[in-house]
Amino acid sequence: MKSQIYNQAKYYEIAFSFVNPKEQANLFEKFVRKYSKIDVKVVLDLACGTALQLREMAKRKYKAIGIDSNSKMIDYLNDESRKEGLEINAIKADINNFKLKQKVDFAYIMMGSIIYVKNNDLFLSHLNSVADSINSGGLYLIENIAINWADTSFFKPQRWIMKQDKIKVKTTYQIVPKNPLEQTVTQILKMEVEDGGKKMKFIDKDDLKIIFPEELKLLLDKDGKFELIGFFERDNVKLLKNVSPDNIVLLRRK
Ligand SMILES: C[S@@+](CC[C@H](N)C(=O)[O-])C[C@H]1O[C@@H](n2cnc3c(N)ncnc32)[C@H](O)[C@@H]1O
Repeated sequence: MKSQIYNQAKYYEIAFSFVNPKEQANLFEKFVRKYSKIDVKVVLDLACGTALQLREMAKRKYKAIGIDSNSKMIDYLNDESRKEGLEINAIKADINNFKLKQKVDFAYIMMGSIIYVKNNDLFLSHLNSVADSINSGGLYLIENIAINWADTSFFKPQRWIMKQDKIKVKTTYQIVPKNPLEQTVTQILKMEVEDGGKKMKFIDKDDLKIIFPEELKLLLDKDGKFELIGFFERDNVKLLKNVSPDNIVLLRRK
């Protein structure tokens, strides 16, 4: 995937620096305590990007592995973890089809990045790769899977501004329906950056696919390697009452 946005790892990290990796790592640990059948020593961050969460997990002494298909992201993560004195194994690989040298006890994919698994065949291939990488009884946590377009607010553009030192990043994110028969949407991500006196614009437009909840269950059945623990709220170990773009899907390796 050619990406203007993900080639700008530093600006991407600033744009999305509203996340709280400490709270997210606390939430991982809560899910593990409640639902994992195994102790967690090794964790895997899929489509890790600049991997704020994985860096937090490495600080907490978990063995940390991250994969991302973008070399700029991998280079940035290696530089940052070196600066922070963290040991992170950052691997350039495709989440649709990968093989790790060692198995992990817990895997996660954040920020809706599962949408980069672009069709059901690839989803099954992705599930197989993750299943082959996780020890039996371990969890796979998926944050913000696109499972709903009944809520029209899902399609409204979101805009926010983040600043760090002399850098200002204005981000616009929007999902636009493309072909309902194919459940496809166009995802538009734009960053307008001011860095010192320099102004820059980066934009990505990707055609991607929504997976509806009942379809997800069928895909999981077909794959047969995970049990669905449930659909949860994004920031809680609480089951979702209503479908929401803010969600966590929790799977456990059989
Ligand atoms: C929305 S960012 C999420 C980054 C990070 N997990 C976070 O929460 O900030 C999506 C990431 O997915 C990566 N990506 C996109 N398609 C991918 C693929 N097929 N395999 C691996 N990584 C992919 C991009 O390079 C980018 O770093």
